[in-house]
Amino acid sequence: MAEPRPKVWVSQPLFDDIVAQLDAWFDVTRVSEISDHAPSAIAAALGAVDGALVTLNDRIGEAEVAGATHLRAVASVGVGYDNLDVDALHARGIVATNTPGVLTETTADFGFALMMAAARRITEAEHWLRAGQWQGWGFHKLLGAEIHGTTLGILGMGRIGQGIARRARGFGMRVLYHNRSRLPGDVERDCAATYVDRDTLLARSDHLVLVLPYSAASHHVIDADALARMKPGATLTNIARGGLIDEDALADALGGGRLAAAGLDVFEGEPAVNPRLLACRNVVLTPHVASASLATRRAMVALAVENLVAALGRGPDAGRPPTPIAPPPDAGRHRLR
Ligand code: DGY
Repeated sequence: MAEPRPKVWVSQPLFDDIVAQLDAWFDVTRVSEISDHAPSAIAAALGAVDGALVTLNDRIGEAEVAGATHLRAVASVGVGYDNLDVDALHARGIVATNTPGVLTETTADFGFALMMAAARRITEAEHWLRAGQWQGWGFHKLLGAEIHGTTLGILGMGRIGQGIARRARGFGMRVLYHNRSRLPGDVERDCAATYVDRDTLLARSDHLVLVLPYSAASHHVIDADALARMKPGATLTNIARGGLIDEDALADALGGGRLAAAGLDVFEGEPAVNPRLLACRNVVLTPHVASASLATRRAMVALAVENLVAALGRGPDAGRPPTPIAPPPDAGRHRLR
């Protein structure tokens, strides 16, 4: 008798033509609407399958996998994986994968663009124009912060941070960075970036961009104290995870003029946005789209599919998913938001 085909759950609508590759190997259950599934719904779905293709909308921890006796692999579409309790998955022998690499340049493009939009007040200017307030060219209108020749600070210097640093070279910026570990000399030279401690980064950056992973250790890394240490008139851009910033403290800093502007693609309670930030005119708000070019989002799904096929022991890389998640050093403190 033929062996039964493994069962797979695809938790969100992705690109049908790419996800269809799973049909060659597995019996696939697809969810057709974007949904923040309740934990009980995730647990029920995982309890019935061998593998799952999930996104950042799906929070998977101990409770969700407790009854998933057949589950062998969870492939998440995204580089950040704070939606997964990797320890809990690993403890049950479940392979967890993410999609690093394929979104680096697209996300770096967006981070740089968001920083520029905040500094040069681009969306504020557009809202003003659309509101019919442009009655004549004004010399003092909508003056923004300089970008070329200023100091860019990058907190978190992985692939995306390095991509942003390389872009900054074209703008004649000085690049400072702080990271859990210092980069090798050749990478620092390639990025023309100088390693500094966190307080120096805060004090010297005209534009600070956050690109570090979110974990218990980095929760509210930008709090009221960090904001008070930032250079007056600086900008702050976040394309990583909302939980890195204490949003009420940021609203105070923006409202009080301590910071010139902020660019935020991610929010602590997303899709809900802190109403105080919505009320600030000097913040550019975007709905978690830093990696959202068509080609990149397709590449992310394709990599996640490849990971799942391999992790479930099928295809040319059977047993060797291309991008498994290794537990980070602070994995014991890694937690779900
Ligand atoms: C990621 O990959 O972690 C992004 O936040 C979603 O593209």
